[in-house]
Amino acid sequence: MPTTENSVSNYNIVSLIRKKREGENLTKDEINYLIEAYTRDELPDYQMSAFLMAVFLKGMNDDEASALAYAMLHSGKVMDLSSIPGIKVDKHSTGGVGDKLSLILAPMVAAAGVPVPMISGRGLGHTGGTLDKLESIPGFDVNLNLDRYVEVIAKHGIVFIGQTEDIAPADKRLYALRDVTATVECIPLIASSIMSKKLAEGIDALVLDVKHGTGAFIQETSGALQLARRLVDIGSQFDKNTVAFLTGMNQPLGNKIGNWLEVEESIECLRGDWPDDVREVTLLLAGSMIHQGGKADSLDEGIRKAIQTIEDGSALQKFREIVIEQSGDVSVIDRPETYTKASYSADFTAAEDGVVSRINAYLVGMASLELGAGRKEKSESVDPVAGIVLHHKMGAKVKKGETIATLYTNKEAQLETAIKLMNEAYELGGEAVDYGPLITHIVDKTGERPFDYSKVPALKSR
Ligand code: URA
Repeated sequence: MPTTENSVSNYNIVSLIRKKREGENLTKDEINYLIEAYTRDELPDYQMSAFLMAVFLKGMNDDEASALAYAMLHSGKVMDLSSIPGIKVDKHSTGGVGDKLSLILAPMVAAAGVPVPMISGRGLGHTGGTLDKLESIPGFDVNLNLDRYVEVIAKHGIVFIGQTEDIAPADKRLYALRDVTATVECIPLIASSIMSKKLAEGIDALVLDVKHGTGAFIQETSGALQLARRLVDIGSQFDKNTVAFLTGMNQPLGNKIGNWLEVEESIECLRGDWPDDVREVTLLLAGSMIHQGGKADSLDEGIRKAIQTIEDGSALQKFREIVIEQSGDVSVIDRPETYTKASYSADFTAAEDGVVSRINAYLVGMASLELGAGRKEKSESVDPVAGIVLHHKMGAKVKKGETIATLYTNKEAQLETAIKLMNEAYELGGEAVDYGPLITHIVDKTGERPFDYSKVPALKSR
């Protein structure tokens, strides 16, 4: 693990920026100094911006990325959950469209006896965020303080909160700066940012869902693999059992996109009514967490235990329990059909006969954002009922005029733009593009390898 011992407190900031600009590697102490000075407001945004751009252009090696994660982690509180029995495991996804998996797998894993402390984020660009989805449940409070965070995880084995001011504050400020200086899409910066927050939660182990494909932030498989390696490497350096899976985001996950719509689909899944793709990736990640949490001897056994929590109703019960604990209205979980409806809806229909050959997930995410499910500006609020229900996905045969998707919004004027985006997103042709298996690689501390479905028969069993 990186150490800050012997840190020198008087570096010349311009020389550090120049050093990185010339492609040299910074030491742990130098990185720590930069982050400490920035957190104390002794280093202005313009110098930090120059440093970030130098990192963006010249990169960072594994040691530098770990040192950056360490410095950001220690800019705030690091939670200690050692008083709570069990191996605490969380999950992080690099973000996708229709990705509601946290809502489903956290109660499954907790019901299997593995505590899941989850600090999540809000929607970012075309992708949704767990906090926005949870807040679509009337009354659900994600703003628990850290004492309550520990109390709730101790009581229920599950908790959902947002990043507080105390959790990796340097990352919070740096992320906002990266957003306005075109330095977001940088693998070492992304990896250290994600891991600083996850490590602050007090976890013992972590599973990572690294997306690639049209709806992912990093679309190329090679880039996603590089990110996965970096994330696992940082986790391992901090002695956390970290496993990453590369999963496809070449079409939205599941059939519902939008905040409440995704909660609704999660409830359906918790009741055992799954879209195939959501089932496959959720079971994989939940199974891995149960295995990493010491409640199963193999990934396959973890998956079987995850399935059991659906079949015996304990996962749904756990979800109800946490909704009640965090002040949410459980009546909408029990009767989702009573939830407020959007004022306007419109059908997106097929322009011709054909097979849905391709769906650009990014454009579907943008259509959902236009309807009100996401934010164009950070200060905007999201509309819980806005979103899209997909009736047909890749491989489906459709007839001219048939409804492919239904769009929901409270902003009628946005329907036209959203329908246009859906038209661009959907391609009809003779057959569907073959993107290969949904799960492509596994990366852990022993290295990376293609995912072998034959080793996990439980994944495809029904
Ligand atoms: N999510 C994060 O938390 N940080 C990044 O840099 C990108 C995505």
